[in-house]
Amino acid sequence: MTDTNETRIESQATMTATTTTPDLEIPYQSCLLEGTSDPCTVVIVGASGDLTARKLMPALYELFIKNALPHPFLVVGCGRTNWTNEDFRVKMKDALSERSEYAMSKWEDFAGFLFYRPVRYDTSSSFADLAEYLIKLDQEKHTGGNRLFYLAIPPSLYQSTAQMLGSSGLSAEQTNGNGWARVVVEKPFGRDLDSAIELDRSIHGHFREHQVFRIDHYLAKETVQNILMLRFSNAIFEPIWNRGFIDYVSITAAETLGVEHRAGYYEQAGVLRDMFQNHMMQLLALTAMEPPSRFEADRVRDEKAKVYRSLRPFPVENLQDYLVLGQYDAGTLDGKQVPAYRDEAGVGNHSLTPTFAAMKVFLDNWRWQGVPFILTSGKRLEKKVTGITVQFKEVPHSMFRQTLGEDIAANQLTLGIYPEEKITLTFQTKNPGARVCLRSVTMDFHYHQNYKGPVLDAYEKVLLDCMLGDHMLFWRKDSVELCWAFLTPILNQCETCGGRAEMLLPYDAGTWGPKAAQQVRK
Ligand code: BG6
Repeated sequence: MTDTNETRIESQATMTATTTTPDLEIPYQSCLLEGTSDPCTVVIVGASGDLTARKLMPALYELFIKNALPHPFLVVGCGRTNWTNEDFRVKMKDALSERSEYAMSKWEDFAGFLFYRPVRYDTSSSFADLAEYLIKLDQEKHTGGNRLFYLAIPPSLYQSTAQMLGSSGLSAEQTNGNGWARVVVEKPFGRDLDSAIELDRSIHGHFREHQVFRIDHYLAKETVQNILMLRFSNAIFEPIWNRGFIDYVSITAAETLGVEHRAGYYEQAGVLRDMFQNHMMQLLALTAMEPPSRFEADRVRDEKAKVYRSLRPFPVENLQDYLVLGQYDAGTLDGKQVPAYRDEAGVGNHSLTPTFAAMKVFLDNWRWQGVPFILTSGKRLEKKVTGITVQFKEVPHSMFRQTLGEDIAANQLTLGIYPEEKITLTFQTKNPGARVCLRSVTMDFHYHQNYKGPVLDAYEKVLLDCMLGDHMLFWRKDSVELCWAFLTPILNQCETCGGRAEMLLPYDAGTWGPKAAQQVRK
């Protein structure tokens, strides 16, 4: 073997999948945008708040630049602040100020579609006035009475706002000049099973389920959407995607961020409500669900609900074998000292709120019986990493035992969500050379490999889908409640037991969480 060959083989220790066809020949526009939506007005309730400036307005402007918004299209901001249309336009322009002059070159065209109406959330006459204003705008601008109400307000106001929208006639469809009416809510959808049922009941007092869009931004991540494509548009994975071949599945969402300025919310939520009831459960369902017969929102959501129905209830008297909770202490992250959770602004000195959880769950069904799903999420961990690892079983018998011993690493498939959006598969191969030696190699596919077109950010995707009326990436009522039904006994046990303080294990910021988390991991 020549030196050149050796070097070449050496450099293939990490093999990179090369695509043999120019796989993205389809013009990107036809992948980027699906169908066209009806003319409509997006009514942002809470338009003077943080969410509007940070997420909604940048996403709407991007969609405008990409020519993805319907025609005609309007945004009506409403909130307690007494702004005029012009004030609203100026504030929203400020919110986008970090963009280049070039990126802002279409702002003036976009700004012409923005309007503002002050609203008092507890006053019926204020919503009656809003209704009148919207009808007038519809008539002038021909938006067909189609309206998307985005509730960018604290969750404590969801119920009363739904009620106000209902009593002012704005939730009704196809009557009194209304076209379609949709309402968008962000998590948390309640704080336990009872409050979630109560919230649904209030919203359903005025909106039917097809009108409700419950957002989970994880579902709009490209690599999360890709889980179903990988599983169900390739014939090679499905036959081995079960208890016969898979040893365990690990789903991780590790963050370096601490609680930031959100202590008011986080103290009430903790990691189980903040990350598990929603994002972690969605990743679990996408990994574990059966193939739906068609790629349609309700068929996909039916299969997810079946996964949640199969969740084995935790033996709450024996919680420590299935759940480890932690809270971050002071530590060092990226070379900087960071404070303990209890020393963060707005957090009590004796707070018992968990910022880390590792949980082992089982699904009682034929496909997954006995396979542990290990879900881990925490704040102030060593790195921000989100991904799913599917650990396959070891070979049933090793014919290499005599020469290599028993130790042959099993295959592993990882679905990287952040920071690297990629899929990797590790397998064993012969080491080049006279002696028989094995080595593990990794084949990887980077999600954006060979793709040069633009991508939609999570909020752009969800806003577009709401306008299209596509529920694929949104939570359905039954799944929200099924997940709360699973988590509520655990939360009750954790929050009411005498040993609550002992259950909460401290960990240094900048580490991977409490050491005891190993006991629920493989
Ligand atoms: C949010 C949580 O839903 O998700 C935050 O409220 C968390 O606490 C965030 O930081 C993580 O999202 P991402 O997309 O950064 O992984």
